[in-house]
Amino acid sequence: MPNRVVVGSQWGDEGKAKIVDFLTIYADIIIRFQGGANAGHTVKVEDKEFIFHLIPSGIMHPDKICVIGNGVVFDPKQAILEIKDLVSKGISVENRILIAENAHVVLPWHITSDKLKEARAGKSAIGTTGRGIGPCYSDKVNRHGVRVGDLLNESDLRPRIEAIAEFRNEEFKRMFGADAIEPEPVIKEYLDFGEQLRPYICDTVSYLQESLAAKKQIIFEGAQGTILDVDHGTYPFVTSSNTVAGYASCGSGVGPTAIEQVIGVVKAYTTRVGNGPFPTELTNEIGETLRKIGGEFGATTGRPRRCGWFDAPVVRKAAAVNGLTHLAITKLDVLDTFKEIKVCTDYKLDGREILRFPNCLAQVALCEPIYEILPGWECSTSACHTWADLPPNAQKYLTRISELAGVKIAVVSVGAKRDESIVVDLE
Ligand code: GDP
Ligand code: IMO
Ligand code: MG
Repeated sequence: MPNRVVVGSQWGDEGKAKIVDFLTIYADIIIRFQGGANAGHTVKVEDKEFIFHLIPSGIMHPDKICVIGNGVVFDPKQAILEIKDLVSKGISVENRILIAENAHVVLPWHITSDKLKEARAGKSAIGTTGRGIGPCYSDKVNRHGVRVGDLLNESDLRPRIEAIAEFRNEEFKRMFGADAIEPEPVIKEYLDFGEQLRPYICDTVSYLQESLAAKKQIIFEGAQGTILDVDHGTYPFVTSSNTVAGYASCGSGVGPTAIEQVIGVVKAYTTRVGNGPFPTELTNEIGETLRKIGGEFGATTGRPRRCGWFDAPVVRKAAAVNGLTHLAITKLDVLDTFKEIKVCTDYKLDGREILRFPNCLAQVALCEPIYEILPGWECSTSACHTWADLPPNAQKYLTRISELAGVKIAVVSVGAKRDESIVVDLE
């Protein structure tokens, strides 16, 4: 089986974790390569449901290795919580979780800065998850961040935390009139986190290189989605990392030539959580119905997700910038009761049809969807195990989506559980 990147191809929450958990059957190693605890990845196996923010979604398979790569912004407090939760539920983690020593650490200053900035922004707030993601990445790029390996030695950690404290406390005072965070208790707390995580922290880049040489199969698990990418998304209403497949290389230390497939996960409709333009959003009863049937509430923040019809220009953009080789289409079952289903094929902008999702935010906000109406199938799909089991109108709907995206379908998901998956073409 090939090394695969699995990325979100809309605005996040496409069901990446469901697909990664399913594809883990065919892999040895699962690595998160970007984002942080802003992600909320739901895995349902039999009657157990887990929401992972940092731990890769392959962890429910007892014999697989899960890696938190260098491209992740790592919140040690959150990771310890997730590890303890897994252990308490009888899931083994020993020798199964590796954390990159060169990943950057989310600190209390990052979380506070994220929240202060959002509160100050008022109406123009991004609607972040408040997990400190933007400030942590900005300190990384500013070259005064703290890395996971620093948590293991006070002599490494102390000067780095003191530098961040000086910079961020000044920001709190001048920009927000907010209280400073004292560095001393943070140094103590984070050294303790380092001790707890010591068995997991290592050189994951060398581990992955050795694994590739031993012909192990890797899944690179993306977080967020393409239209939240800091370069390719609806900037500034985006997250602070590159969410696209290309970043799987940077965020893991595995060169792009080792990656053989790029699977774009798409919902059979569209959702977005947080602010920013969303051309096919339905602010009516249909949107409410999608939210209700789809259980569309954020896995990290609990916020209601904005819902709308499938948007082909979004997915075509994702196909292009990720180099998608396959699609995994999720939540088909959510559409089971609809009599008619709309699909946005293109946009109209200034009276003209456009095929591409624009880069400019103001233009995205003005795009009007052009819809095609497809007949629903009005029966349950959750018990379907093969393509042939699917009702003809569901097959037509999926085929049309694939045609509009220009990408073939690998997997269709018809329920949240691992076995509610249909393999179409994984080659
Ligand atoms: P992720 O962030 O992309 O991993 O997605 P989330 O976990 O945030 O949100 C996806 C939600 O849809 C979760 O509650 C999943 O359990 C659920 N889910 C995934 N695939 C399916 C599916 O095919 N059908 C239904 N009904 N639910 C699904
Ligand atoms: P998964 O991996 C959906 C959104 C936030 C906000 C913007 C910036 O579960 O798909 P941030 O906290 O990253 O600075 O917030 O990005 N966002 C997500 N939306 N799914 C996610 O992750 C998200 N992670 C961040 O709502 O609009
Ligand atoms: Mg999610």
